[in-house]
Amino acid sequence: MDVTPSTDTFEKAYVDGTPPWVIDEPQPAVVALVRAGGFTGRVLDLGCGTGEHTLHLAALGYDVLGADAAPTALARARAAAGTRGIAARFAEVDALDPAGLRDLGTFDTVLDSALFHIFDAGDRARYAEALLEVCAPGALLHLLALSTRGPGFGPEVDESDIRVAFDRPGWRVEDVATSTYRGVVGEQQSAAVGLPAGDRVDLPAWMARIRRV
Ligand SMILES: C[S@@+](CC[C@H](N)C(=O)[O-])C[C@H]1O[C@@H](n2cnc3c(N)ncnc32)[C@H](O)[C@@H]1O
Repeated sequence: MDVTPSTDTFEKAYVDGTPPWVIDEPQPAVVALVRAGGFTGRVLDLGCGTGEHTLHLAALGYDVLGADAAPTALARARAAAGTRGIAARFAEVDALDPAGLRDLGTFDTVLDSALFHIFDAGDRARYAEALLEVCAPGALLHLLALSTRGPGFGPEVDESDIRVAFDRPGWRVEDVATSTYRGVVGEQQSAAVGLPAGDRVDLPAWMARIRRV
């Protein structure tokens, strides 16, 4: 993004209805990563939105915390946990606030599904620095972000944006692979993808594996 949207912008998107990233299921790329053993120890799902990844992991028995800046998203996540009978925990935090992150504790695996890509260049660097607060030595960050190879339906980043942000003491970028991020087709995008509005679409994305060293 050229300029990071305020956290209020996201809160308003949830208050106004159902934003296009809410698909009521975990991202297939994240489900595959869980199956492959990519999550260990204490897990933080940062920018969890309505909590599908936290709920998925909690249902599988992982020790997971979902955190987001939008109270309405967290309320929906907690309601979904109640409806589905899943004991899941959620907390409100600003991912750019190191002190707030520190209060969450430390984690062995952090999932960022579509949070990093909303930040501008300056905030991507701030975020990488702030995340050091919540990562135990050796922790893994899995970062799923929309790619500039996509049709521009949302904020997109290049592989170099990920590598540059985490090219700093405390981090080692182990892998940046092509992946997909599933979203909902909007009215304006319908013609471009040849799908009716409301359908799901898998957009080009990056899945990065970044180690806290
Ligand atoms: C595109 S959504 C992705 C939600 C979810 N992870 C997913 O993949 O469906 C980005 C989420 O990041 C949250 N967010 C935006 N800025 C944030 C910040 N500074 N701190 C914490 N969460 C933030 C928004 O409220 C929103 O829920």
